[in-house]
Amino acid sequence: MASYPELAGRVALVTGAGRDAGIGAAIARRLAAEGCRVVVTDIAASDANAAAEGGSADIDSADGVARAIVDGGGAATSVHCDVLDEASVQAAVGHAKAEYGRLDILVNNAGVGFLMSPIAETSAEDWDRVLGVNLRGAFLATKHAAKLMIEGGQGGRIVNIASQAAKSGFPYAAAYCSSKHGMVGLTRVSAIEFGSHGITANAICPNHITTGLGAWQNSFFSDALGMTMDEYMDSMRSRIPLGRPGLTEDIAKTCAFLCSDEAVYVTGEAINVSGGEEMH
Ligand SMILES: NC(=O)c1ccc[n+]([C@@H]2O[C@H](COP(=O)([O-])OP(=O)(O)OC[C@H]3O[C@@H](n4cnc5c(N)ncnc54)[C@H](O)[C@@H]3O)[C@@H](O)[C@H]2O)c1
Repeated sequence: MASYPELAGRVALVTGAGRDAGIGAAIARRLAAEGCRVVVTDIAASDANAAAEGGSADIDSADGVARAIVDGGGAATSVHCDVLDEASVQAAVGHAKAEYGRLDILVNNAGVGFLMSPIAETSAEDWDRVLGVNLRGAFLATKHAAKLMIEGGQGGRIVNIASQAAKSGFPYAAAYCSSKHGMVGLTRVSAIEFGSHGITANAICPNHITTGLGAWQNSFFSDALGMTMDEYMDSMRSRIPLGRPGLTEDIAKTCAFLCSDEAVYVTGEAINVSGGEEMH
């Protein structure tokens, strides 16, 4: 049952939503359940990112996620979108306009988190890839989506999926942390520049969620700290007041709220959804 009936018929575009177990797909499913018409976008599952994080081409594609939504009675289409490529981003936003004539919601979710190394050993190429997808990609999608929202004259919602790494530093994650801190800056400027058009912009900062990316990070950090996976997960749980890592649905719920009319006066925020692990 929909929690926010006003979302029925609104058009949402979610980047990086083609991994069945990922945060973007959970957001796409939740917005569709609220009655939104969802444009599910992602790069091809055969990309190095999917391979490095153990993706499966069968279900881990924008097509697969959109098909499952439609099979379940929701409204969705899919389009390939590489957020590193401005023309590709522009075409995805153009797809929303051609298909539905409007865009009400943009969720900047695409991200890479598997390029981790100490600063002294981080290549400029890896730095550029992480900043390129996580931050420049969000900027490009915001740029083109906001133009369409402003043209439509009906306001809009921008939700940036940042991270706990937007608030705190983590070893071996200089590029990732910098990109996510940068996303909060992008969120604040978006809130200021687009506020007069009735467009809100907020970031969500999840802690750990065992998606493909999250599982890769668990394995990387448990190895780096010399812990077994069980020891690593126990130490993680001990830092979280609510006693468990996050679920993709926790993020989707907060995203749906931020997209709803209930959040009409919330903008420029970076909201922790971390079971209390992050409190500032
Ligand atoms: N899993 C976590 O613990 C966690 C915590 C905090 C924040 N996040 C953030 O949440 C977002 C989703 O992560 P996830 O955990 O669901 O991982 P995921 O790997 O399942 O999702 C990331 C998606 O981004 C896509 N992507 C990568 N490069 C792209 C590109 N150039 N263009 C378009 N799409 C591209 C991938 O194909 C994938 O579908 C990311 O921004 C991540 O940084 C995740």
